[in-house]
Amino acid sequence: MSSRMYKPTDHVIKKSYLPSIQKYKEMYERSLTESELFWTEVAQEFQWHVAPKPGGFMKYNFDITKGRVFVKFMEEAELNVCYNLLDRNVKNGFGDKIAFFWEGNSPDDYTRITYRKLLDLVCQFANGLLAKGIRKGDRVAVYMPMILEAVICMLACARIGAVHTVVFAGFSSDALAERLSDAKAKLLVTADGAWRGERMYVYKRTCDDAIEKARTFFKHRVDMCMVVNHLDRVTPGGSLKSEIKDLYNWNEETDIWWHEVLEGESNICPPEWVAAEDPLFVLYTSGSTGKPKGVVHTTAGYLMYAAATFRYVFDYHRRDVYWCTADVGWITGHTYVVYAPLANAATSVMFEGTPYFPKVDRYWSIINKYKVTQFYTAPTAIRALMAHYNVEDGNLTMPDLSSLRVLGSVGEPINPAAWLWYYTRIGKERCSIVDTFWQTETGGHVITGLPGATPMKPGAAGFPFFGVEPKILNEDGIEIEGPGEGYLVFARPWPGMMRTLLEDQDRFERVYFSKFPGYYCTGDGVRRDEDGYLWITGRIDDMLNVSGHLMSTAEVEGVLASDPRVSEAAVVPKPHEVKGEALYCFVVLKEGLQFDADLVKTLTLLVRQKIGAFAAPDTIQNAPGLPKTRSGKIMRRILRKIAVGDHEVGDISTLADPGVVEELFNNRPAEA
Ligand code: WTA
Repeated sequence: MSSRMYKPTDHVIKKSYLPSIQKYKEMYERSLTESELFWTEVAQEFQWHVAPKPGGFMKYNFDITKGRVFVKFMEEAELNVCYNLLDRNVKNGFGDKIAFFWEGNSPDDYTRITYRKLLDLVCQFANGLLAKGIRKGDRVAVYMPMILEAVICMLACARIGAVHTVVFAGFSSDALAERLSDAKAKLLVTADGAWRGERMYVYKRTCDDAIEKARTFFKHRVDMCMVVNHLDRVTPGGSLKSEIKDLYNWNEETDIWWHEVLEGESNICPPEWVAAEDPLFVLYTSGSTGKPKGVVHTTAGYLMYAAATFRYVFDYHRRDVYWCTADVGWITGHTYVVYAPLANAATSVMFEGTPYFPKVDRYWSIINKYKVTQFYTAPTAIRALMAHYNVEDGNLTMPDLSSLRVLGSVGEPINPAAWLWYYTRIGKERCSIVDTFWQTETGGHVITGLPGATPMKPGAAGFPFFGVEPKILNEDGIEIEGPGEGYLVFARPWPGMMRTLLEDQDRFERVYFSKFPGYYCTGDGVRRDEDGYLWITGRIDDMLNVSGHLMSTAEVEGVLASDPRVSEAAVVPKPHEVKGEALYCFVVLKEGLQFDADLVKTLTLLVRQKIGAFAAPDTIQNAPGLPKTRSGKIMRRILRKIAVGDHEVGDISTLADPGVVEELFNNRPAEA
């Protein structure tokens, strides 16, 4: 493991808020010892309807043995997030500042929107929502491509106190139906479709199916579906219009076009002042039992935390142009495409397309086009692009990227090879890389480097952000001080952390607080080196991380086992060069049934249908049986070894049938 240190360069330091590690350390100490003062300074930048009262901003209990777990921050304060992102910035003179440069899938399709214009459209849409009967506390589901309307919709919800739940538009109709029902969404906002690369996606059709499935399987009725007419914009010459309309249904009673919702609505909409602890949004994330968890984030704490992390972790300054490539359907898109940049009156790029279209230089050409200063993406994208540039290809030139100052990484540990490529080829050895560790549940970065302060070690996430107190525990819950490895937990809350799981406080406590009472348990492993750097070692529960998308083995196993021919399935991660991890599935068939290529095809399709294309297995192996202990527990450790063809399986004497291991090795498909 490389432990060479890369010091921040003058290029970064001279602009930095925190130009040395000492400055970071002082401020970090202060964020723990004088926590209230620290957050008061952050809060002062914002507009409050009722200001936070000094004396105990943070109230919480992390110890399930002492009662229910809760976190409350600035409890009696009142504010509106949308007002703080838009009206406040317009009042502060940023009305004409560009909020987003929007870049479409096709390089010829782009636009920009100022803070003032964004405010106008958000108010109009918020009025439209009100006119359709959406009120404070109502849940609004969003299933959208990367278009400005997605941002407008999220902020309009925040403006009227409605709670959005964005579902990544790569999820299947089954997955969407489950989330619509669990969230009891009244309204679904979508687009007819979008192009990504050379493929067209018809989101409205997925929504039609999902609404139908929500009704039949979950007895949940979605009252209304609002649809952005996006395909017309991008259909060359409009000649396909009629054909596109045939691709989905239109229900006159429940469907309404976005532009019709806006029609005649005023661009003035007074914000709904909400309590600091009122919910801002729900975002589903995979749970290890298979059922998705509705992570609830609230208002004041989330805003303060998003704003502070953005400012310091990306070292954002007024004239910078920031770009986060994440989709709004994931937490990274929520916090670092929408809320945090706008809270800092930032100018961002929002990109609809893929890194490979029309050519594999698309990311770099966008950085060059908008003179991006901060670029935030995932290791899987870096690895995929790096592979193209590492082969000799005369057509691949790298445009001038000298505007860059800070490079971010998120979603999974970044391997040193990818880190070095990012550092040298993209950052030209003068940018800082921040490896940001965080989760849907944490709301914002919790362990990360800071551009001007932290000397970088490729692959290490670094140090805690302000207000965050990480600990390493061993299996028995004993704290490991100094260098060592164990469970990553947090000993106290920070403002941006989740508050509960939607209508499932019990599961919230069970999943995050029962293993080590008194601590929030991340589910990740961590190592502290001799310099105090934290290295995330990956999930230690039954979760998989495919291209930065977290999913549970149980979720995929459930889908495989739903095929009537399958008696049992087990899924393990297998290291993958580009995706980080890939799904390796073991399938046990019912007596007398034949395993063949057709079955593999059907099962793969089933996973795509039930979850989404991003969850498609790489390998499905015929398994005569699974390695189980005498008490019936599947030994996944052994399956992981089989997946990679490593015969060093260790002790298998506790297995009920040790013979099965050899059989499984013999059964590995040729391509595995
Ligand atoms: C993993 C994404 C190592 C980790 C923001 C975590 C990381 C899970 C990093 C959360 C990183 C995220 N280094 N691992 N920089 N960032 N992870 O909820 O396993 O989609 O628990 O949030 O991704 O994934 P989620």
